[in-house]
This record gives sequence, C-alpha cells and structure tokens, in this order.
Amino acid sequence: MSKDNKQKPWGGRFTAPTDEFVEQFTQSVSYDQRLAHYDIMGSIAHVRMLARVKVLSADESEQIVAGLNTIKQRIEQDEFSWSTALEDVHMNIETALVAEIGDVGKKLHTGRSRNDQVATDIRLYCRAEIDAISALLTDVLKSIHALATQHVNTIMPGFTHLQSAQPVTFGHHLLAWAEMLLRDRDRLQDCRSRLNLLPLGAAALAGTSYPIDRESVASELGFDGVTQNSLDSVSDRDFVIELAAACSLIMMHLSRFSEELIIWMSQASGFIEIGDAWCTGSSIMPQKKNPDIPELVRGKTGRVYGDLMSLLTLMKAQPLAYNRDNQEDKEALFDALDTVKMCLLAYSGMVPTITVNEATMYEAAAKGYATATDLADYLVVNGLPFRDAHEAVGKIVQFAIQAGKPLDELTLQELQQFCDVINDDVFAVLKLEGSVAARNHIGGTAPAQVEQALSRLEQLI
Ligand code: ARG
Repeated sequence: MSKDNKQKPWGGRFTAPTDEFVEQFTQSVSYDQRLAHYDIMGSIAHVRMLARVKVLSADESEQIVAGLNTIKQRIEQDEFSWSTALEDVHMNIETALVAEIGDVGKKLHTGRSRNDQVATDIRLYCRAEIDAISALLTDVLKSIHALATQHVNTIMPGFTHLQSAQPVTFGHHLLAWAEMLLRDRDRLQDCRSRLNLLPLGAAALAGTSYPIDRESVASELGFDGVTQNSLDSVSDRDFVIELAAACSLIMMHLSRFSEELIIWMSQASGFIEIGDAWCTGSSIMPQKKNPDIPELVRGKTGRVYGDLMSLLTLMKAQPLAYNRDNQEDKEALFDALDTVKMCLLAYSGMVPTITVNEATMYEAAAKGYATATDLADYLVVNGLPFRDAHEAVGKIVQFAIQAGKPLDELTLQELQQFCDVINDDVFAVLKLEGSVAARNHIGGTAPAQVEQALSRLEQLI
C-alpha cells in the first residue's frame, strides 16, 4: 500500500495520499491483469507509430519496445509483481517500464489515455476470445457429428410438449443441436467483425493534438479499420454486450441440450447413458450415477445471463464519454467468457462418452402412437379431407389405447371399422421406419436426409 501518491502516474495534482479503502475500492489490477498481453501489444503498436510520425525518435521507440518485451516476458513467467497502489494493468506496466528503462519510458503515454487504451485492450481480448470460443464450438460440433453418424437410422420418439409426437431419427435430433451451434458460431463472427476496429487515438475523449496515424496502428494490430468518433470510441461497450449476448445464446442452447440429456438419462426414459468418467455419484445412495455435467451447465446458464444483465445495466444511461463505471465491464465479461469456454469443453469431452439404448428409444416411439399423423395422411391420400381423417384416426388411437396395442398391431378389420378406405398397404405407413423414411425432403428426418445433413455439416466444420 502506498503511503504517498508519488509513485502514481496521476499523483502530481494530489497533496494527500489516497485513502487505503479508496485504493482497494478503485483498483482493477486484481482482475484486469489478464489484459496484460494485449495492453503491451497495443502499447508497442502505439509507440512504433509515434516514431513513424516523428513524435518520438526511432531510438526512443526501440528502447520502449524492448522494455515492454522484457516486461511481457516477466509477466508470462509469473515474475511480475502487481501493485494495487498502481490501480490497474495499464499503470502497473507503465510504471514497470520506467523502472526498467528509465525516463524514456515516460514517453510511452504520449498522445494516449487509459480510456482509449483500455478500450483497445478489451477489443483485442474479445477478438482472441471469440476465436477461442469458435474453436471450442467446432469441437463440440465435431463430437455431435460423430455421434449423429452412428445414429442415422436409430429411431426415437420426437416430442412436442414433451409428449411423443412423431418418430424421428436420433441423428436428426442431434443435428438440430448442431444447427444451433452453427448459428452461435456465425453470431460470434458477426460480433467479431463489428468490434474489430481500433479506438486508440481517441485519447481521453476528444482525440489528440499529435499528428497520429491511426490507420497504421490499426493494421499493425490486425484491426479492419479505425473507430469514427472519439467520444464514442472511449465509451462504447456495445461489443462487450454483444459478446455476452452471444455467450448467453450459447448457454441457452447448452442448457437445452443439458435438459434433454438429463431427461434421457433418467430411469424413466433410459434412452442414453453418459460415460462413468463424466458422471458423479451420491454420498448416501450407493446406486446413483448422476448427470452432474449437464446439470452444472444448465445451472451456469443463469450466471452468464446475469453477466449480460450486469453489462446492459452498467451502460444504461451513462453519459458520454468515459466514466469509471466502465471498469465494471471486465469481471462480468471475463466470467461470461470463462463460463462458456468451460461448458463447451465439458460438452466436447462428454458427448463422445454418450451411449444410446436404441431398443428403448424404439419402443418408446412405438408405444406413443407416433405414426398417427402418417395414418391420417394415408387416409387423405385415399380421398378423405384432412379434418375427417384426423377425426377417424383419433378414434382409432382411442380404440388402440383401450386394446393396449400399438397402431401397427391392430388388425385390418379393426382399422376398417373406423374407415373403409383402409387397405393392406396401411401397415407400411404405420411402421416407424416407413414414417421416418417418408419425410424425405431438405430438413426432414429421413435417414437419407440425415446423411446429406451430415455431409453438409462436415463441410462446415
Ligand atoms: N482501469 C480503468 C478501466 O478499466 C481504465 C482507467 C481509466 N481511468 C480513468 N481515470 N480515466 O476502465
């Protein structure tokens, strides 16, 4: 803890030392140190530009770059000592630079403010995280692809209202998950393209009087261009909110998969098992094997939504330009990103351990009168208006329930009681295999379509 403000880069204006509570309350270095890599990257690009426009000499710029690289190494090797008195990652690094290379280090901050500096750091950080999350999404997509490949012909009940509705192939069901994750990956790319602009040069809020060359800094840092308004540049956190929203959607999707896995693994359903290595037990009930991984993923969804709400609320009604409120963006952002990454890792590890009880799935589909719509369609093909067909099949289902039989075990005579257009060929329609195979169009559940969807997915991953 500092006893005076002399070591603080902003200490000049102050006569009394900062209250210790204030130091603790205002510090962000305990969490923003994870931006160090990007902070140094941004500083190096800034200082090289200052030399190009002759605000600094080539020699000064080289000394600063060398000093920053030394500090970077020290941080990477965990040999850097972070100081709360120095508030944040930016002032810690700048102070270390001056200690390392002497007074020339004090020139680093020329034409720049921590306001545009931190905005730059977060954009660089978010960009890297988007790339990492996209790669993790691809891993999960691969694991879904592999499982779906084994279940092109596996029949299960498809549900609406969680009631057995129509038979589907398990491969088709899994590929619905893949569609969600593909959209998630697109959404991240969309967010990436919007955030990939350089805010540096906005300085505190109004720009700077030095003859800076923002475009060259942007291209050195891999940005697609520069932001267009200095006030907006230092205050904008839309991209953080967009990224947290994209993370929330990923979590929403994972929570849906999780819910299904949990239901399917219940004894009542018995459709799947998750491998022992990816389940845990109970401390009291020796028989238990619990789907804790999907349960935790489902639970962590709330936490990412909370991060999104924090960020939206953080920005609500903030006047231009930078306000210290903005420092509060980091923990929510980091938490959302960390949580999503962990959950995606969990999924890519767990999905390959899933085994499927095909017989149980098949029986559940057979028991649920899932081909009733096929029977109604058959009656329509044979001349009945759809509403009349619906009515007739409703009566047939009621009869079958009372007789305790699935539809395809009713006799032709039993069926004909309800409608005289029914013939021998009806049994092909009542079979689960016939029902799924008939839905043979893009987006349908027929095995032939699942094969095509799998090759399309393979191209995309
Ligand atoms: N640590 C701050 C943040 O994360 C950046 C510093 C801006 N501070 C200031 N007094 N203008 O937003």
